[in-house]
Amino acid sequence: MLNLDQCLGAYQPLIFTVAESDIEVLKYLHEHFQDKKFYVYSTTFTDKIPLADVINHKFITKSKSRSTQEVLSEILNRDFPTQAPAETYIFLDADAYIHDRQNIRKIKDIVSRYQMDENFVVNLVFISQFVSVPPALERLGEIVFFDLPGDKLLRGMSDFLTEKLCLKDEVNDKGEVTKVVKPTDEVINNLRGLTLHEVERAYVQSFHIHKRIDLDFIRNFKKSAIAKTDLLSLMDSSVKFEDIGGMDTLKGWIKKSCGGWSIEGQKFGLPLMKGLLLVGLPGCGKSLICKAIGNQWGLPIVQFDPSRIFSSRVGESEGNIRRVLSIVENISPCVMFLDEVEKGFAGSQSSTFSDSGVTARVIGTFLSWMQDCTKPVFTVATSNNIHYLPPELIQRFDEKFFVSLPQMRERIEIYRIHLSKLKRDPSKFDLEALSQASQDLSGREIEQALREAMYDAFHDGIDISTQIILKVLAKKTSLLTTMSESLKSMLTWVGWDKDKKDGIRARFAHPVEEDNLARLQDQINQLIQDVEKEGNAPGVENGPTI
Ligand SMILES: Nc1ncnc2c1ncn2[C@@H]1O[C@H](COP(=O)(O)OP(=O)(O)OP(=O)(O)O)[C@@H](O)[C@H]1O
Ligand SMILES: [Mg+2]
Repeated sequence: MLNLDQCLGAYQPLIFTVAESDIEVLKYLHEHFQDKKFYVYSTTFTDKIPLADVINHKFITKSKSRSTQEVLSEILNRDFPTQAPAETYIFLDADAYIHDRQNIRKIKDIVSRYQMDENFVVNLVFISQFVSVPPALERLGEIVFFDLPGDKLLRGMSDFLTEKLCLKDEVNDKGEVTKVVKPTDEVINNLRGLTLHEVERAYVQSFHIHKRIDLDFIRNFKKSAIAKTDLLSLMDSSVKFEDIGGMDTLKGWIKKSCGGWSIEGQKFGLPLMKGLLLVGLPGCGKSLICKAIGNQWGLPIVQFDPSRIFSSRVGESEGNIRRVLSIVENISPCVMFLDEVEKGFAGSQSSTFSDSGVTARVIGTFLSWMQDCTKPVFTVATSNNIHYLPPELIQRFDEKFFVSLPQMRERIEIYRIHLSKLKRDPSKFDLEALSQASQDLSGREIEQALREAMYDAFHDGIDISTQIILKVLAKKTSLLTTMSESLKSMLTWVGWDKDKKDGIRARFAHPVEEDNLARLQDQINQLIQDVEKEGNAPGVENGPTI
């Protein structure tokens, strides 16, 4: 794929540039193509604030008073100039008008008119935040991704701004710079994913408020900058493995995979893991473990909700997914977290009938990206219903884990963790009895039971005790009862390998006894039969757990 320099150098007539910041593209063109003549057009220009001011009057701007169509007609019908051999027309906010039929026709005509001419070249450069190219123009032009600044550029910008800002305050009487505190590597790492314009704003604001480049300030600035995209968010996570009960097999895998992110692992030539799929019942700790991965590996977690990328505007959904992936690549190394992935990525098969193939194209882009991405992005997806996921997506993950209901030992750990969080000493509780009484409850339900017990104790004017918790547990309906059908279909999908003593399509997050699994399946079947017979959900007594 050509970059912007190469396209302009090779006089490509039609260039679609995808960029987070159009001003940065203009600045870049100004610096790198001093000899070129540029005309900039935007539907939002006013005569009073020409964008050209930003770039030293180098560009000749057109005012708002004319429509895109009029401007295109003018280019099409203009006389051949005698002086300049090439002219470049830059159109900002292109996604707002590029799909208009008349504009498409005019663009095609311009391309064919000037393609015939050997002495004079016209480049049309359309800039937008999305790849929003009408199919009719796709094969006429080049798509160029104007990447967010890389580490070298960010460091350069950081040095420049630090000098500039610190010089103001840290100059002694003799006019000498007394101290220039350079931002740490951690600050520079936190600039990834920001535009240069944003870096400048972040530094100026941080310096104004803290009199230095403050790491927390930069982190928060970036968090809100990413959130503004409305497609991604940066997650704050202080969750550690110690905060999660059980899941020993999964934790072991994560710890081992950590090697790929270390300098030693890279030297050894370890290929980076692409992703992990966590399947399971609600409330069993899938999101929790993802948060812990970010912490364990020391990487930022970028949450991406696929359902947000779908838009009714033509081409925008496809553009959004590319935009998301490009921002994520720029933030890398990072963990990308797709929670409940089936909600956003379901329906690829029916897509041709339901939405003219938009969902299928979006999923296709994501799948190709997962396959080809060379940047260090680790994708963690969770799903409560594997059956809604396209099989090709499931295959893309390095490993799949089934996060099932916690078993006896895990529940004890969960009680210990949550009682400690409530500032109670776990050794004062009968954890065995509590775990026994919580069979078939998820981690979330255990946490909720503890919270309820706290309120009961407070209401009665006493402290929380094993007895109070047991009373609350006696009233709880287990997740198994309410979700027996889902659990059955998930267990069927996971399968069981007798020799490995593990699942076939996904591994169990914690070691499972075959007997326990068989008993659980019987219990589920019984529950389903009872519901079918009686039409209501029966209670569960002493059911086995896995
Ligand atoms: N293994 C566990 N150890 C400690 N706490 C747990 C565990 N599992 C669940 N919890 C508690 O339950 C809460 C919900 O867990 P989490 O959000 O990770 O579940 P989930 O599997 O992602 O559920 P959903 O499918 O509804 O999103 C957690 O915030 C935590 O307090
Ligand atoms: Mg979750």
